[in-house]
Amino acid sequence: MTSEEIREKFLKYFEERGHTRVPSSSLVSEDDASVLFTTAGMQQFKPYYTGVKDPQVDFGSYSTTSAQKCIRTSDIEEVGDDTHLTFFEMLGNFSFGKGAYFKKEAIAFAHEFITKEMGLTIDYVSIFQGEEGVPRDDGSERIWKSLDPEIEVREFGREDNFWGPTGDEGPCGPTTEVYVNGVEIWNIVFNEYYCDIEKNLTPLEQKGVDTGMGLERLLVHSNGVESIYETDLFTNILREASKLTEDTRSQRIIAEHVRSAIFMIADGVIPSNTDRGYILRRLLRRTVTRSDTKKIEKENIKALVGLIIEKYSGVYRNLKDNTVITEESYIEESSNPTARSITMPIISVIETEIEKFERTIEKGLKEFEKMKSNGIDGKEAFILFSTYGFPLELTQELAKENGIKVDVNEFEKEMQKHKEASRTASAGMFKGGLQDHSEKSLKYHTATHLLLAGLRAVLGEHVEQRGSNINEERLRLDFTHPEKMTDEQKDKVEDFVNNAISQNLPVSFSEMSVEEAKEMGALGVFEDKYGDKVKVYKVSDLSMEICGGPHVERTGEMGTFRIKKEESVSAGVRRIKAVLE
Ligand code: ALA
Repeated sequence: MTSEEIREKFLKYFEERGHTRVPSSSLVSEDDASVLFTTAGMQQFKPYYTGVKDPQVDFGSYSTTSAQKCIRTSDIEEVGDDTHLTFFEMLGNFSFGKGAYFKKEAIAFAHEFITKEMGLTIDYVSIFQGEEGVPRDDGSERIWKSLDPEIEVREFGREDNFWGPTGDEGPCGPTTEVYVNGVEIWNIVFNEYYCDIEKNLTPLEQKGVDTGMGLERLLVHSNGVESIYETDLFTNILREASKLTEDTRSQRIIAEHVRSAIFMIADGVIPSNTDRGYILRRLLRRTVTRSDTKKIEKENIKALVGLIIEKYSGVYRNLKDNTVITEESYIEESSNPTARSITMPIISVIETEIEKFERTIEKGLKEFEKMKSNGIDGKEAFILFSTYGFPLELTQELAKENGIKVDVNEFEKEMQKHKEASRTASAGMFKGGLQDHSEKSLKYHTATHLLLAGLRAVLGEHVEQRGSNINEERLRLDFTHPEKMTDEQKDKVEDFVNNAISQNLPVSFSEMSVEEAKEMGALGVFEDKYGDKVKVYKVSDLSMEICGGPHVERTGEMGTFRIKKEESVSAGVRRIKAVLE
């Protein structure tokens, strides 16, 4: 059976049994800010489990079915083996609240679909073994046995047989799972509880069912092949990828990553240094570094993207269209810089990013040449990673070609430091503003602190930060001030910052409680949630702010500061864009 046939068969099976077919939701979840990407079919249905929305009103039914686009990046390093993917489709049937079905029907559907419709043999099933507060799932065991007295029922704990919630809170509950050829193929969740932010479980008023079966996995097992790359979803695409590299694993990684990238871009994600955009950027960078020449010719990427879009555009119509971009850096570079959004074909977004990275890689390769005489220590490998976007494996590959060693342990330590800094940064006031710590963004980060100090010195203490965003090209700061700044004021603020830079002042931080920081007079957005301990960064005695960091060590490294634009954002809030030259 082909992927198209299986997808359709599943949806039709449930449609014929009273489920409303619902299109996949976007990979970028609008309702759940606590997750970066949609990772499960039930996500778009969360409000129906909790009774916030009425399924009867929206779907004309208490049950639905869908094939949901999902992104899960936790196993990105494993991609290229037979089973791991960053993008996959989850087939699911869902039932909500009163009037809906529960365990008996859900298990009977799964049994019938796998054994009769698909003609597969169930090895065994698993159920929740029970723990304090949540009883053993005797009901599911009884139901399975009633359908097949011979069936083997295994029982496991919370790790394996309890699912959810997605994000910070939501419906969750015990599961029963179906195994075929030793592999878990279908996860059937009985949403009986609501898990709140503090991880407390309370029984849901109305119970529901949420199931998920990976389309790719089902395809592999129904066709009796070894790997997803041997299925119709990948065979043509791999042939195209083989023009870029001889290495089989690299061909798989390229095919898989480009597929994910296309779906992300079609749902509005644009390469950047933060959050979703960073994950997309990483996928595309890994694609380039997997090609034998560390370059991808336009005609090759066009062909590859064309094949993937062709494979899916019958099901996901938005793949055919231009993607709508609202990202500022893209609009600024476009021919119409006053626009609020621009449209661009998916392929152009990919080409632009690849070209950008190819230029960086060239610089990185030069840097590598300089570094290589003494072997590559961990710090150097980390610089190649953070400034030039080299994945460790690329540095290792180059080192091997040159017969030198890379200090991987040291690299991991540097990486750990970087991750900790990122975490603190995310918990602090620069959430979303700074995730990548390239040298350039460190400089912009420190410049933002100096700019705020300069604004307060020139305009007055009423100036408070309202938002900040940093990328490789510029900083952006939103702050409170009732009117347009005069040219003279702008000059004065520039001078303030450049003065601080020319004095090569030290930047330091200390950790303390939020209370202590407030008492010291550190600036911060106090409505924000901070952890128990915060870092307070000082630029000599000019600036003191609560912030996750990291920053430059001394201001002398920063270059010359220029305000490029000062404009209004909303009543009483102004925005400055500035660069370091
Ligand atoms: N929501 C369940 C899962 O993702 C079905 O496995």
